[in-house]
Amino acid sequence: MNSQPLNLTKIVVPEHPQWPSLSDQEKQAIKARISRKLEQQNAVLVAHYYTDAELQALAEETGGCVADSLEMARFGTVHSADTLVVCGVRFMGETSKILNPEKRVIMPDLGATCSLDEGCPADQFTAFCDAHSDHTVVVYANTSAEVKARSDWVVTSGIALPIVKHLAEQGKKILWGPDRHLGSYVQRVTGAEMLMWPGSCVVHEEFKAVALERIRRLHPDAAVLVHPESPENVIQQADVIGSTTALIKAVSELENKEFIVATDGGIFYKMQQMAPDKVLIEAPTAGEGATCVSCAHCPWMGMNSLQNLEQVLDSGGNEIHIDEAIRARAVIPIKRMLDFAAQQGIGMQDKGNA
Ligand code: 13P
Ligand code: SF4
Repeated sequence: MNSQPLNLTKIVVPEHPQWPSLSDQEKQAIKARISRKLEQQNAVLVAHYYTDAELQALAEETGGCVADSLEMARFGTVHSADTLVVCGVRFMGETSKILNPEKRVIMPDLGATCSLDEGCPADQFTAFCDAHSDHTVVVYANTSAEVKARSDWVVTSGIALPIVKHLAEQGKKILWGPDRHLGSYVQRVTGAEMLMWPGSCVVHEEFKAVALERIRRLHPDAAVLVHPESPENVIQQADVIGSTTALIKAVSELENKEFIVATDGGIFYKMQQMAPDKVLIEAPTAGEGATCVSCAHCPWMGMNSLQNLEQVLDSGGNEIHIDEAIRARAVIPIKRMLDFAAQQGIGMQDKGNA
């Protein structure tokens, strides 16, 4: 970011939650109760690939969706349920509410935030935008409703490249926030003129380039899959760089037998389901310079469990509410993204493309 340095609040990363373990019988029983409650409440699960495998399986079994953040946003707009139960992090619930104000949107834990969202306070981001008012403001979906309301475009990792390319072709200068790694990657690929907000994902930032080189030497035939929130020296080693959907697609479509995966380990559930004969290896978060806090498991995504999902269906609490003036502004750049996705045929489960 090339204005005065910011004194951003230090992000407190929570401990990865430990849920009491359930026997297979208890899991079946709680899943059956949740399914009944979903039906009774005309509710549907909208889950992210990083959530617990049991939650992803339940979302699939009950007719909900398991997806990347772009498809999660789209799914809520086309499904007829009165209640969207968003299993993921807070910005995903907020995006659902912004797009579907008439629906009830609840989450197992409203404290499930995201380091990108927390590291981009709306007042400071607004001041940054005001200081560069000749720029088109493009924000990553991992932001608060207030930050989205200040933007011209919202993007997810599945659609950032084509949208920024489209804007750059029109000669627009871009103010990008908050993920500096994704922003730099988009800048390198598109050549767009971009000012960056200095945010990062505490999970992806921990992948280590030197240790990754070592693992690649041990598995020379493995394809390296990297989410673009990772540091540049990790992205440089990738065979495929993309959204969670794009990385899952790569495992089933590439001929390689082994894959080194640099993103949250929750994604392994879907990768294994799509390609059971492939070998998946976690990219290293340890090695030179390692201070692994989250170790490739997002602690906020980990706040979703079968137990608190059942609790929220019982209590009816944890509902997302958004001030109408903010919602009415935030919906414009989100709809812009979804309209662009529809025009370009991007975002239908199998078309992640970052
Ligand atoms: P995707 O949009 O690729 O699912 O990413 C969301 C996210 O939070 C990655 O850390
Ligand atoms: Fe946010 Fe990173 Fe967690 Fe994704 S993995 S929700 S970007 S903290």
